[in-house]
Amino acid sequence: MNEYIQLVRQRNESLAAVGEKRYACVVTFGCQQNEADSEKLRGMADAMGYTVTEDVRIADLIVVNTCAVREHAELKALSTIGQYKHLKAKNPNMLIGVCGCMVAQKHRVDELKNSYPYVSFSFEPSSLDRFPQILFEALEKHGRQFSIGENARAISEGVPVLRESDFKAWVSIMYGCNNFCSYCIVPYVRDRERSREYAYVVDEVKELVASGVKEITLLGQNVNSYNGGCTFAELLEKLAAIDGDFLIRFMTSHPKDVSDELIEVMAKSPRIAKQFHLPIQSGSDAVLKTMNRRYNTAHYLATVEKLRASMPNITLTTDIIVGFPGETEKDFEATLDLLRKVRYDMIYSFIYSPRSGTPAAKMEDQVPDAEKSERMQRLLALQNQISLEKNMVAVGKTLRVLAEGPSKNDAQTFTGRAESNKLVHFKADDQCIGKFVNIKISRAEPFCLHGELE
Ligand code: SAH
Ligand code: SF4
Ligand code: F3S
Repeated sequence: MNEYIQLVRQRNESLAAVGEKRYACVVTFGCQQNEADSEKLRGMADAMGYTVTEDVRIADLIVVNTCAVREHAELKALSTIGQYKHLKAKNPNMLIGVCGCMVAQKHRVDELKNSYPYVSFSFEPSSLDRFPQILFEALEKHGRQFSIGENARAISEGVPVLRESDFKAWVSIMYGCNNFCSYCIVPYVRDRERSREYAYVVDEVKELVASGVKEITLLGQNVNSYNGGCTFAELLEKLAAIDGDFLIRFMTSHPKDVSDELIEVMAKSPRIAKQFHLPIQSGSDAVLKTMNRRYNTAHYLATVEKLRASMPNITLTTDIIVGFPGETEKDFEATLDLLRKVRYDMIYSFIYSPRSGTPAAKMEDQVPDAEKSERMQRLLALQNQISLEKNMVAVGKTLRVLAEGPSKNDAQTFTGRAESNKLVHFKADDQCIGKFVNIKISRAEPFCLHGELE
């Protein structure tokens, strides 16, 4: 990687010497893992002598980091790439590259090769550190470069990072997934599980805390199967022992792997946020079985009970898929029942989207679209009510909130996140950005809280 970073840097430095500064823009779709990868892409671009910009119109290099989890995500990425065709026409020296989960699928790479002639290169997520090499080869006009299925398992340490925030940071602790839930493309596009050695993770978090970062989110498809020389619970314990005023969050956890040890470490460490995202996907045991989730609702509910027994005010959130093949009205009602039982603070719900190459896409009795949408509406109506009731409990209380910045529509209203990860709005000024502030909550909505600085 470093050798190619230097080679591209030399090119860009000699261009800068004749007044031709080069700009790079990274456009991101998908989950936090992709956000974290994009910060590395920007870090590499910066090290290669590009000025990193958010403005695609002035970019000489555009990298589109794609997602494949649902069809909608792929269509969005493809349409965005399509919109860059005219930019390339205006600036023929511009290079457009595509990376991320979508281009770890051969059929999508073929589509780019054949129908998107203005795309110069692509590489899959497990080859992230090959970006400088692929870019160099594309710049040197060795033809269009499409990498797939190479160098899949190695974890590269020391990749430069250009972080978006000074006070919040993503830290990937593991990559890939071994679970093969029958609907999910992730194991195919992100390859098998690989964990980073814990010493690297601990050092990175220490550095972040020393530089003033207040919130660190550990990332992985299934963080509780982390095995980089210690268990996930042990890793959390080491991180929570670092000196400083900061909060640790993590996502995502698989319900089959929540150990008692993990719950114990969370409960006793004030630096670990009392918040747990535990995707259940469905409240029907029959559906969970065909989803290959490898737990049932009884096991899941027992885990929730244990979490609440040791952390009574813990915030719980989940993911739900609506309209999985074979989901009957009764199965769906079981999901509604489960929501009533658990009373999540918030849910992320998705209409099932068939992914080519996954077992569920080939299952018979796919649920008709109209039925999926109708179920989704009922699910949201129920959860909005529950979320509002759960948020009302905070009214009158004072919460410690990490202030993030002014809201989009109103420069005097700031937003921040409480320890629960709930969004809080309050009046303040720029002084508070990146600091923990105490907010007395005065009003609740289903998706946010409002309050005043104390
Ligand atoms: N590794 C994480 C989640 C990865 S994807 C986990 O196991 O929880 C994030 C969410 O997208 C999943 O939890 C699931 O609810 C949803 N999802 C994944 N594949 C999907 C598909 N084919 N259609 C609809 N939603 C899907
Ligand atoms: Fe997909 Fe399941 Fe892996 Fe999550 S655990 S990434 S849902 S296969
Ligand atoms: Fe999408 Fe890949 Fe994340 S498929 S959800 S960007 S792991």
